[in-house]
Amino acid sequence: MPPKNQLKISHRSNPVSQAVSRLYPEHAYQKTVTQPGCPNIAHFHGFIDAVNQASVQTYLDQKYPGQISVTNLTYANGDTLIHYHPNLETSEKPATPKKNFSLTLTDFQQHLQSLSASPTKKDLKTLTGLIPQLLAKDRAAAGELINQLKTKLIASTPQSSTINHQPSAWLDLTAPGDKPPIGHLHPITQAIFKIQKIFESIGFTRVRYPEVDWDYYVFESLNMPPDHPARDEWETFFIDTPNHPQYGQMVLTTHTSNGQVREMERVKQPPIRMLNIAKCYRRQEDVTHTAMFHQFEGLVIDNGIGIVHLKGTLDYFAKAFYGPQAQSRIRPFMFRFTEPSFEVDFSCVYCQGQGCRFCKSGWHEVGGAGMVHPNVLKAGGIDPHRYTGFAFGWGIERVYTLQPGLELDDIRPFYQNSLHFLDQF
Ligand code: PHE
Repeated sequence: MPPKNQLKISHRSNPVSQAVSRLYPEHAYQKTVTQPGCPNIAHFHGFIDAVNQASVQTYLDQKYPGQISVTNLTYANGDTLIHYHPNLETSEKPATPKKNFSLTLTDFQQHLQSLSASPTKKDLKTLTGLIPQLLAKDRAAAGELINQLKTKLIASTPQSSTINHQPSAWLDLTAPGDKPPIGHLHPITQAIFKIQKIFESIGFTRVRYPEVDWDYYVFESLNMPPDHPARDEWETFFIDTPNHPQYGQMVLTTHTSNGQVREMERVKQPPIRMLNIAKCYRRQEDVTHTAMFHQFEGLVIDNGIGIVHLKGTLDYFAKAFYGPQAQSRIRPFMFRFTEPSFEVDFSCVYCQGQGCRFCKSGWHEVGGAGMVHPNVLKAGGIDPHRYTGFAFGWGIERVYTLQPGLELDDIRPFYQNSLHFLDQF
């Protein structure tokens, strides 16, 4: 028997070995000899010249304040021995409470009888918990009583009727399993693909241009010099970065028209048939506006392009997107980058232009269009005496929600990430 109050230190958790392996990680701990009485000796195979008694003591004082004293460090047969002893006063364990064998078997039986006719699992647990209070000789009998009760409990538990363990008459192992839920493209992405397909079939090429761009491409090259009041229409988010010496400030693109001059610079020599689809940003948020939205921009430049080509393209798109009854119309408007400029309307899908609750006037405005301004052609390096072109730019959310059957009077839910809403498309 080890002397009473000896600090029991297992090999694995021996604090001296732990100290040596932490302080001198290259010396693996080998073995600790615990001798009856003091001191204990931590025994390390090999000569550990780096080990120093004071550093081991400092480590132990931090980790086990006042509990262990290193008394000596010796070398024997080439091994390192660290002698230490636990400080008995502080290492004394709290006395374990005296056992209380106060319960007799009769008490136990009475307790058991006091249970209701239908005992529960909890009762079993309580009874089992009483066993340590019985004298050893009574415990087997009490255990037997608990077992009887357990058998009764199992017998009285009704078998679940919902689980049928019999194989059913019809079992087809080749039947398909449950399908995992499969997502789908966001409605605006679906609209983008549909629009892209419609324009590609008449020779347009889809391109992508920056959605964070220089003032030059968003405004200045589009015939809107700095401080021109026409810029107020585009409620612009400006980026807080140093200005570009040539292209000015950086902005979140307010429209896809920033692609016009970029496309002219890329292609250089007409013909151009561009479809630029991108995110746009404006400081606006209400039922028909979100601060981030999408536009698609068409740009056609070639010899002899006129308003008829624009009008033909609008009509073609209206019919391809909304169906054969759909019509388009253009109304005079003002944009700095087109001359003449128009606003474009599509006939209402419900009343075909007659006027109803949904459209009021029979028409829905979808965006702007016009003949490319000569200054814009010049900015793009194209000779306005030789080439002409048209451009249009419309909101995708707007065009999408006008489809028959949707009757959406608020576009904000498109960007609120609720599957209850999005799953409907
Ligand atoms: N960029 C314009 C807007 O956002 C639309 C437009 C595009 C008008 C091309 C004319 C030509 O309102």
